[in-house]
Amino acid sequence: MEIVIGLILLICVYVLAILYLRRLDSEIHWDWKTIDTDDLHFPDNFLWGTAMAAYQVEGGCTNNNWNEWERATDSDGRPRIRNGAVVGAACDHWNRYEDDIRLIKDLGLKAYRFSLEWSKIEPAEGQFDQAVLKHYSNVIDAILKAGIEPMITLYHFTHPIWFRQLGAFEKIENIDHFQRFCERVFNEYSDRVPKWCTINEIEVEATQSYFTGDWPPGEQDGQIMGKVMRHLLEAHVRVYRALKSLPNGEKVQIGLVKNIFQFDPWRPWHLIDQICCRLLNRVFNGGIIEFFKTGRFRLFIPGLVNVTHVNRFAISANDFIGLNYYSHLVVKFKWDPQDFFQFRLRPRETPTDMDYTIYPEGFYRALKQIGKLGLPIYVTENGIADHRDDRREHYIRRYLYALSKAIVTGSDVRGYFYWSLLDNFEWSEGYSMKFGLYKVDFESQKRVLRDGAVAYREIITRHG
Ligand code: GAL
Repeated sequence: MEIVIGLILLICVYVLAILYLRRLDSEIHWDWKTIDTDDLHFPDNFLWGTAMAAYQVEGGCTNNNWNEWERATDSDGRPRIRNGAVVGAACDHWNRYEDDIRLIKDLGLKAYRFSLEWSKIEPAEGQFDQAVLKHYSNVIDAILKAGIEPMITLYHFTHPIWFRQLGAFEKIENIDHFQRFCERVFNEYSDRVPKWCTINEIEVEATQSYFTGDWPPGEQDGQIMGKVMRHLLEAHVRVYRALKSLPNGEKVQIGLVKNIFQFDPWRPWHLIDQICCRLLNRVFNGGIIEFFKTGRFRLFIPGLVNVTHVNRFAISANDFIGLNYYSHLVVKFKWDPQDFFQFRLRPRETPTDMDYTIYPEGFYRALKQIGKLGLPIYVTENGIADHRDDRREHYIRRYLYALSKAIVTGSDVRGYFYWSLLDNFEWSEGYSMKFGLYKVDFESQKRVLRDGAVAYREIITRHG
């Protein structure tokens, strides 16, 4: 009898635990057969744009951490980048920016998010290259001349080799170097650039570079990952405050760019899948969002990471929040001490060329989650890698439907930047991923608008 009661109690506790965990932002799926994806609503003056990042498109980035990484091999002598690719001339955007701005204009877009390559601007510690500063000034003028609004990203995964040699963001004192660079370029361009993103995707940078080891410097250490997150968060707050106190600081808008990938359990009834997801969501999403809500950052996973950081200024350190959203990751726990979980693709969801699926409902969820900060939201990246171009239109229509639904139900979203204008160098995936609205032939540097991108132009025309 006692055994039966014990078992019943155990089952009750299990069920209650699952019910509790499922209450927290759980996976949703809509019945797309009943949805009209043309039923879209966007506010007046909604900012339609596209985004790129310096290293991925400019060419000639020979002095940064990624350039070193491209030429490195792992302990088995295998290249770090897929197919041993190197960035090289990329899209030659450095020389072709005027043509590319024309392409942005042809699509009817009103905004362009791009990043400044720190290693070109400050090639040696404390030495700023006037010609490079002038180049970006010309780029900004060309964007404005085309009637397009520039949005600058100050840090998009790359930093000068001298900064890496100093220990990059592993050391808190190095934030001063980053702040000096930010102040310098802000003084140059803030009279013409109304929106500034400080750091792109703290969580992606910290986890890829210091936990999975897939990105430079290839560390696999949870504690260092936590520390780098803490320093990047602190860097954002300091840079925000410093720029706000400079001329034009009060006039422009400055914000962080947060990536959200939800971690959803492969088996929603499975307590360990659920717990894995809770931990991963905490590391990747929850901890950072909480920092900007409360001023307190806490990552604690026994044996893996134990980091705390408090800075009350974080609460008021964003004029907007940038959201980069692509998909969710579905997690299945494994009894394997080498590798406790694996990522699976839900069979009901269409795959992309990256190792995740098309999941517009997650975009809606992410907008609601980031909305808890109570800030205006810009979707600073969203797009699909689709080399056959047979899913891009479908992706655009469904994600924009999810965006519109979030707005209609109260999310304060002010703009959307499609990733990306051009095919480009996709970090450790090299040139294998085709995110571009325009296909790029990297031999001839010819750009051709993809059929799947036409939907974006149509929607903008209708809702611009
Ligand atoms: C983001 C990143 C971009 C781009 C994109 C597509 O995480 O900010 O640079 O690579 O992913 O995967």
